[in-house]
Amino acid sequence: MTFIATSNIVDLVGGKPVFVDVDPVTLLMSIDKMKEAVTASTKAVIPVHLYGQMLDMKALKEALGHRLDIVVIEDAAHCFEGNYAGEPPGRHSDVAVFSFYATKNVTCGEGGAFITNSPGLYEKMLQTRSHGMTAGAADRYRKGTYQHWDMLRLGVKANLPDLLAALLPPQIEVIRVRLPFRETLAVRYEEAFRGTAIRLARVRPDVRSSRHLFAIHVPPSARDQAIIRLNERNVGVTVNYRSVPTLTYYTKKYGYRPGDFPVSYQWGEGTISLPLYYGLSEADQEYVIQSVKETVLPLIERLEAAPVGNRFE
Ligand SMILES: Cc1ncc(COP(=O)(O)O)c(C=O)c1O
Repeated sequence: MTFIATSNIVDLVGGKPVFVDVDPVTLLMSIDKMKEAVTASTKAVIPVHLYGQMLDMKALKEALGHRLDIVVIEDAAHCFEGNYAGEPPGRHSDVAVFSFYATKNVTCGEGGAFITNSPGLYEKMLQTRSHGMTAGAADRYRKGTYQHWDMLRLGVKANLPDLLAALLPPQIEVIRVRLPFRETLAVRYEEAFRGTAIRLARVRPDVRSSRHLFAIHVPPSARDQAIIRLNERNVGVTVNYRSVPTLTYYTKKYGYRPGDFPVSYQWGEGTISLPLYYGLSEADQEYVIQSVKETVLPLIERLEAAPVGNRFE
């Protein structure tokens, strides 16, 4: 249960992405299933802090036990402001990676950042993001006179341009205002849908979520109709995400099937992300909530009243 970027990069560098199903309550990687999936040839594990909720990274590290050869990479694209029991991404992993893509809570349009405690990995990544060069244009003059650079490894152009990065500090400063705002919106949605047929992921009490996305779940056979009805009311919704291993590329290349990851598949076929952004007014959010109650809930009720054979699985 993630965006395709998480697994695509594994495939792009010649690895085999091995997917692991998620916990049905949090929608974060099931640590038990991860343990079952780890083999002698496992090189890395990439948990995803989906929707802004952080996985228990200490528990994940403990589950890997003595396999110190396995690199742990946190996909923290949704979790810039989040933490687990007070610990932010990067404390119990080799590297945590953030995204500043246009849709993210803190954004400069494109680009991202990684954090690591490993000087070796830091050096390698600096080179990899800059064609593989051992020194960028400014670094070549660090000792006063020109120094040759070398190439030790293959790289790509993946640096965050300074002009874009300059957009970030003012946004980081206002996290203390924006994050509580997002939290208020998310809690209002949670309260509005409590006791209805709409399913939600649960944020654990020991987590500070970034509240990046607010996703609801409806019976899969009602989902696409629900999107149409909400769009008709001018409510902009999206889907985060259809289960990645069941997308065409992965089914064709690796033969993954929906039944391999039932929790992720079921969630992906029924999920809808509702508007959640800093500045969304209470009145507009109320309109969204009412629209869901007036258009989506009746769809579900009609399904539940249908003969058993016509119900979704
Ligand atoms: C979970 C997740 N991982 C990775 C990415 C990739 O980030 P970027 O678009 O900055 O490459 C995104 C979103 O864009 C994402 O949502």
